[in-house]
Amino acid sequence: MPNSAALTRSDLEALWLPFTHNRQFKAKPRLLAKASGMYYWTPDGRQVLDAVAGLWCVNAGHGRREITEAVSAQLETMDYAPPFQMAHPQAFALANELVGIAPKGLDHVFFTNSGSESVDTALKIALAYHRARGQGTRTRLIGRERGYHGVGFGGISVGGIAPNRKTWSATLVPGVDHLPHTHDLARNAFSRGLPEHGAHLADELERLVTLHDASNIAAVIVEPIAGSTGVLLPPRGYLKRLREICDKHGIILIFDEVITGFGRTGSAFAAEEFGVKPDIITLAKGLTNGCIPMGAVLVTKAIYDAFMQGPDGIELFHGYTYSAHPAACAAGLATLGIYQRDGLLTRAKSLAKHWEDAAHALRGLPNVIDIRTYGLIVGVELEPLAGKPGARGYDVFTRCFERGVLVRQTADIIAMSPPLIVEPAQIEQMFGTLAEVLRSQ
Ligand SMILES: Cc1ncc(COP(=O)(O)O)c(C=O)c1O
Repeated sequence: MPNSAALTRSDLEALWLPFTHNRQFKAKPRLLAKASGMYYWTPDGRQVLDAVAGLWCVNAGHGRREITEAVSAQLETMDYAPPFQMAHPQAFALANELVGIAPKGLDHVFFTNSGSESVDTALKIALAYHRARGQGTRTRLIGRERGYHGVGFGGISVGGIAPNRKTWSATLVPGVDHLPHTHDLARNAFSRGLPEHGAHLADELERLVTLHDASNIAAVIVEPIAGSTGVLLPPRGYLKRLREICDKHGIILIFDEVITGFGRTGSAFAAEEFGVKPDIITLAKGLTNGCIPMGAVLVTKAIYDAFMQGPDGIELFHGYTYSAHPAACAAGLATLGIYQRDGLLTRAKSLAKHWEDAAHALRGLPNVIDIRTYGLIVGVELEPLAGKPGARGYDVFTRCFERGVLVRQTADIIAMSPPLIVEPAQIEQMFGTLAEVLRSQ
């Protein structure tokens, strides 16, 4: 195993790390060198419990041999196949498997390589769908404050995170509105399950329809649970209300399930968990257990058929060199096989109560101002240090890492979302370590 001590400061220079304070990181790097099951190991051999499934993606745990073997067998058989005007059997097999676990009616699949690409693909499909049906004036897109939809121009435009948008403000996709976010600490702090207050915030969509007219609106995109901005749960009734308003006005509803997909909430997809069926679902991350980059967009038959009834020729001028890459398809098929065989798509449900109780035991610790859980997700919100937003969160994140638990920090919110194979003793270790760190602030 390479030793971090062997890496000099100049070895660290060439790499520009994403979403990272590079200068701070390179002064004191945190490196991971090996992973298996629920654990990482640092280059000097220290074991770290993975409380975030890598980055919300390693849902079946690390180092699954079935996936490695499937990928390596595929690469030996056929390393690459062009996806334009050509295909390979594994691509169809994975599409069929995916449709098999998807909410009923979402029965066609377009493959991408990441969540960001899935989002931009979904937005393009929504716009092209209306146009294919002779409703080409429907061009406006609606996202939500505090939404994260990746980093493509479409994704940052419908996304609602100021630092991700401000630098490119003048070049964002035009004609985008945002619904208000649903985070209401004053009324919903320390809720168990979905928060009580806030369903009415969906009615803001009616206001936008009144302002622009439905004939100009293409789609609304939301994360069923906003993950990246700190685990914001949908208020009771909110998603149903959004669905009703979209139906009333012929607006496409897109659920971005890049984080909530593949068992995170206790059902295969949050759409199923919350009983609300969108027209399009965006996926990535857990699709291949994080092993090989891959994303997917699920659409309804009605959307697919609208394209297939158009003039002869290529129906959608969109795609990627690596759409349905054979290695990714092999990883996806092996991953879905594990999820189904080991019951991982619903395992979060059986652990959710234990998880919730362990999380709420942090209530009353210094600076904890909210705790939110659903399935195997938790967001612990901390009081920011005066004048230094994010500093407390970063401190807690680094101190948990030093004590052997990898958590995720968003500003002053600590999120955890472990692999779905997590055992109760590991849940105790995660919350126990977080509690120790919070007590010692
Ligand atoms: C909801 C959501 N959408 C899109 C993305 C972007 O995915 P990627 O980083 O694979 O491009 C993410 C990543 O965290 C996400 O959480």
